[in-house]
Amino acid sequence: MSVEAIQVDVGGIRLSNPTMLASGIHGSALSKVLYALKVGAGGAVTKSIGSRPREGYAEPTLVEAEAGMVNAAGLPNPGARRFSEELVQVRGKGLPIVVSVFGGDEGEFAEVVRTLDAGDFAGYELNLSCPHVSGVGIEIGHHPEMVSEVVKSVKANTEKPVFVKLSPNTEKLVEVARAAVDSGADGLTAVNTLRAFPIDVDSGKPALSNGYGGLSGGAVRPVALRCVYELSESFDVSIVGCGGVSNWEDAVQFILAGAHAVQVGTATMKKFEIFNDINVGILSYMERKGVRRLDEIVGAAHRGGVRPG
Ligand SMILES: Cc1cc2nc3c(=O)[nH]c(=O)nc-3n(C[C@H](O)[C@H](O)[C@H](O)COP(=O)(O)O)c2cc1C
Repeated sequence: MSVEAIQVDVGGIRLSNPTMLASGIHGSALSKVLYALKVGAGGAVTKSIGSRPREGYAEPTLVEAEAGMVNAAGLPNPGARRFSEELVQVRGKGLPIVVSVFGGDEGEFAEVVRTLDAGDFAGYELNLSCPHVSGVGIEIGHHPEMVSEVVKSVKANTEKPVFVKLSPNTEKLVEVARAAVDSGADGLTAVNTLRAFPIDVDSGKPALSNGYGGLSGGAVRPVALRCVYELSESFDVSIVGCGGVSNWEDAVQFILAGAHAVQVGTATMKKFEIFNDINVGILSYMERKGVRRLDEIVGAAHRGGVRPG
């Protein structure tokens, strides 16, 4: 089966395959994003970039959990100006890089986008869903009217496609997504981490310096799948599934639930070169099922599934 069978279009961005590196897992160095593309990812999302440099929280910022991990890195990043200088190295290459952006209000989001927009990259992902940094993330992303302001102000400052990364920590998932789509979002990424609070038994204290963190990895996958399934019942825009993908079966679950592509985060900590394995598995699944193009099975779980066997 030819590799063209798994080419996808997400919100106007053409990807050679449906796998993407998720935002932030490997820090803010652009080299990690480029490495993901080199080892088979169809696209890659940068660390979330804010208007000013940020150091992030003190250690510990990461603890293991059953079937995943809890992190509270505190959005460390070099700030938009320095990051725009880093982007010079990809000028003229037309790579499927998506820049993740965060901010405290619509003005700050717009400022970051204006600073970055001349760069050669494919689109933006707005991080409106970080569960452990106050003043940004879920403090905006759980409020439909604030989400609408942010998306409108970003869209007014760029021609590039804009994705909104949603939070699983609210019962207003669909309401928030509607605000984003009605305000011009080209796609939805579902989802960011689940708000968590790990405790260290030995010290009797919170295990993370910040206390609260975000749960990622296999443990969140059923929740993320539910979010994708719910969103794809209500919206026609592209949906990118994210949360606990570590093999081709996980990826296919998201596609059947309605995602056009999937992001892989935590699993790349164990094996960065995971993207090809996932693509090979998807292709042989398609062959077994007699599926000629991946698009044919996007959302199939809503329509009676696929041919067994
Ligand atoms: C260490 C770490 C850092 C992260 N940093 C970001 C970030 O900067 N921006 C963002 O939108 N998501 C961030 N995330 C969330 C991931 O992009 C992803 O949404 C989440 O981990 C679920 O996917 P996974 O289970 O495949 O890791 C981070 C996750 C981890 C584990």
